[in-house]
Amino acid sequence: MNKVEAIIRPERLTAVKDALAEAGFTGLNTVQVMGRGRQKGIVHQVRGGGTVAVDMLPKTKVELVVRDQDTERVVAIIIDACRTGEIGDGKIFVSPVSQVIRVRTGERGEAAI
Ligand SMILES: Nc1ncnc2c1ncn2[C@@H]1O[C@H](COP(=O)(O)OP(=O)(O)OP(=O)(O)O)[C@@H](O)[C@H]1O
Ligand SMILES: [Mg+2]
Repeated sequence: MNKVEAIIRPERLTAVKDALAEAGFTGLNTVQVMGRGRQKGIVHQVRGGGTVAVDMLPKTKVELVVRDQDTERVVAIIIDACRTGEIGDGKIFVSPVSQVIRVRTGERGEAAI
């Protein structure tokens, strides 16, 4: 089992959720985060001609735990829903998860996902 954490543009969240649900992946968490990548934020042009540096940008983190064999499909779905080709499209982290337990039934492992 793997945890897939995707930091995406907030406006892409609905598209990602819909695409994941369509493919059968309904369980997930989202959280609003402030972050930055390689560009260390962006420089905004403001009225009057000045500029203002914004070094942390609002992003949305989507987090879901999936079976090993579903991992690449989930990654592809997220990329498909989020890629514009512009900087700041986001980043996906995949890490192993050793156990999942459904509280109601006590099921463990993939059966509990
Ligand atoms: N190495 C990292 N570790 C943790 N979070 C990161 C990392 N890189 C980026 N992020 C998070 O992902 C968000 C989106 O990153 P972003 O898409 O700008 O990545 P990038 O590496 O700068 O790529 P690009 O050049 O396409 O912009 C960041 O705002 C930050 O929240
Ligand atoms: Mg960036």
